[in-house]
Amino acid sequence: MSHHGSQGPPDPGSPHGPHGPHGPHRPCGARSPRSAKIPYGGDYNPEQWPQEVWDEDHRLFGRAGIDTLTVGVFSWSLTQPAEDTYDFTVLDRILDRAAAEGRQVCLATGTAALPPWLARKHPEVNRTDFEGRRHRYGQRHDFCPSSAAYRRLSTAMAGRLAERYARHPALIAWHINNEYGGACYCDRCADAFRAWLRDRHGTLDALNDAWWTTFWSHRYTDWDQIEPPSALTEHWRGPDHTAFQGITLDYRRFMTDALLGCFTAEKEAVRAHDPDTPVTTNLMGAYRPLDYHRWAPHLDFASWDNYPPPDAPPTRPALAHDLVRGLKDGAPFWLMEQTPSTTACRDVNPLRRPGELRLATFQAIAHGADAALYFQMRASRGACEKYHGAVIGHAGRDDTRVFREVAQLGRELESLGDATLGARTPARTALLFDWDSWWALEISDGPSRLVRYLDVVHSYYRAAREAGADVDVVPVTADLTPYDVVLAPVLHLLKGDLAERLEAVTRRGGTVLATFLTARSDVHDRAFLTDVPGPLAPLFGIRVDEWDARPEDVVQPVEMGEFTTTARLVFELVRLRGAEPVATYGADFYAGTPAVTRHHHGGHGGEAWYVATALDQSGVDHVVRRVLARHDLLGPHAGHPAVETATRVAPDGTVLRFLLNHGPAPVRLAAPANGTDLLTGKRTERGEPLALDPLGVVVLRLQ
Ligand code: GLA
Ligand code: ZN
Repeated sequence: MSHHGSQGPPDPGSPHGPHGPHGPHRPCGARSPRSAKIPYGGDYNPEQWPQEVWDEDHRLFGRAGIDTLTVGVFSWSLTQPAEDTYDFTVLDRILDRAAAEGRQVCLATGTAALPPWLARKHPEVNRTDFEGRRHRYGQRHDFCPSSAAYRRLSTAMAGRLAERYARHPALIAWHINNEYGGACYCDRCADAFRAWLRDRHGTLDALNDAWWTTFWSHRYTDWDQIEPPSALTEHWRGPDHTAFQGITLDYRRFMTDALLGCFTAEKEAVRAHDPDTPVTTNLMGAYRPLDYHRWAPHLDFASWDNYPPPDAPPTRPALAHDLVRGLKDGAPFWLMEQTPSTTACRDVNPLRRPGELRLATFQAIAHGADAALYFQMRASRGACEKYHGAVIGHAGRDDTRVFREVAQLGRELESLGDATLGARTPARTALLFDWDSWWALEISDGPSRLVRYLDVVHSYYRAAREAGADVDVVPVTADLTPYDVVLAPVLHLLKGDLAERLEAVTRRGGTVLATFLTARSDVHDRAFLTDVPGPLAPLFGIRVDEWDARPEDVVQPVEMGEFTTTARLVFELVRLRGAEPVATYGADFYAGTPAVTRHHHGGHGGEAWYVATALDQSGVDHVVRRVLARHDLLGPHAGHPAVETATRVAPDGTVLRFLLNHGPAPVRLAAPANGTDLLTGKRTERGEPLALDPLGVVVLRLQ
């Protein structure tokens, strides 16, 4: 979680708070760590402890089935106590000990927290924040991505580690840095931004045109006149209020690339010595500041840290799992961190209830996780994470509830063996996720600051998942041919050839669904000089001339035949140009006009649905179920709101059906197919009763 030390603007869009087998085609070239079972363990910092504690750690790891340790994440001041001094004695011992105990190591380059000497000697490494304050040494995740000293020293460290440990028997994966995030606004970043802009726009004329700078007399006549958009320049009231959306969008793209440059530089340094071991960095799921789709091709495999907000429905972490799986074209990812019990960074840090850790872990696996790792193995004694949950607490006991649950889960993962490894999700529903749209929507002045990208995306994702559909959450550049249904909620920016590819979906009989505020602007966030929704207007067979935004408490009834629901926030006034109404508004001067429309395409039965307002969840559920039903994609347990289902297909073709009960009450289902529960060995025939305990999990191997 980027809760400490990120020097970027506060990010309300971050989930952490202010803080199918589609054939062999894998454009992103996933390369996953090899393992005989699901790697189980997590962040381990024995450098904080004397040797006796290490002995005890490994004894307890044995009891809990811990086989994988993420090591060295914050050890820079230890491995390089001065600029010209490297010291790997402690790290040697940590890795050697792990190997001797038969444990594998995910080795971090440790470049996310600076040693004090570095910041003192090269003050340029410290970030300048959104308010223009030049920072001094402190916290972590606080290096300037444009600092030459940082680049030189971080890559030197990555290179030395790779040189030393590339062939270490414990090494299974490289973990570069940690939770890259935030932003810097220093003069070096300003220069780097200008260079990035030259590269992207070529000429000042092109840039002035893209940013529409004649507005408010901003025509630039020299690249040096360009300032990073911050509280001192284009912004007021924080990072979402900007005079020039084009400038702010480009800065977010630039910062994404600048931090990515830090990652790729370290990765290259690792590769110089280690051509084989897969490399990753732990991402943060639906994390607004960084466009992970720009990162995806550079990761060998994706990994992320799951800390769902305490009150979030289970589809919220599921959305992030599917988003991360979508980074590498559906290849499995690693769950790099989760807490076994509680976080520490929130104002209030609730405990995971008995059974919740197990359920969350199997949910990750159901969505494509091929590793289950914790933050952290042993609680630190001091500093800001001393109360963060850990497998081993301060008392070092193995008879706590949390330790017992961790150990029980360890046994279950052991018994699963390699059954789930490498398995892919055969989704026929895609949800388009787009950071540019997220940014553009939330930095837009008008029509409404109340529309939040993730909330709308989540409501469509949730509707599809609760109806039992497997969903791939993919970038707008993804190959759409495997999908029957493509959901494009609040896809504000329309880029590239997406309009044609969406039309192709309907031409072959598929269904495309988009919502209000979709396809409003081009790649530079300039409005299309056509009817709304821009290049998608012909596909949806509609035209929108006007839209009304109202406060949250204004509720508009929406009628869909027998079914009545409600909507709020934004109401687009739709004129039919070939589409037919599916639902109509029930009040105001636009009562009786379409709120949801459907446009039939050709003889193949393709349809394009447009939802012109922010329907409440029941309305979204209704619409999405109708769309899924057209393609026979409603799951057999769609009537059980607490039951989540997910499918994975193993490399040998074995189909695994996960059934997860998120509710507090037991559930009885009819078995969806003949199969054996991999966790109990119990066989069930299709149609026979299948019991799910409260928070229960069944992993059926179908046959
Ligand atoms: C993040 C970090 C860890 C730790 C945890 C605590 O995920 O990567 O170092 O701070 O948060 O929740
Ligand atoms: Zn900087």
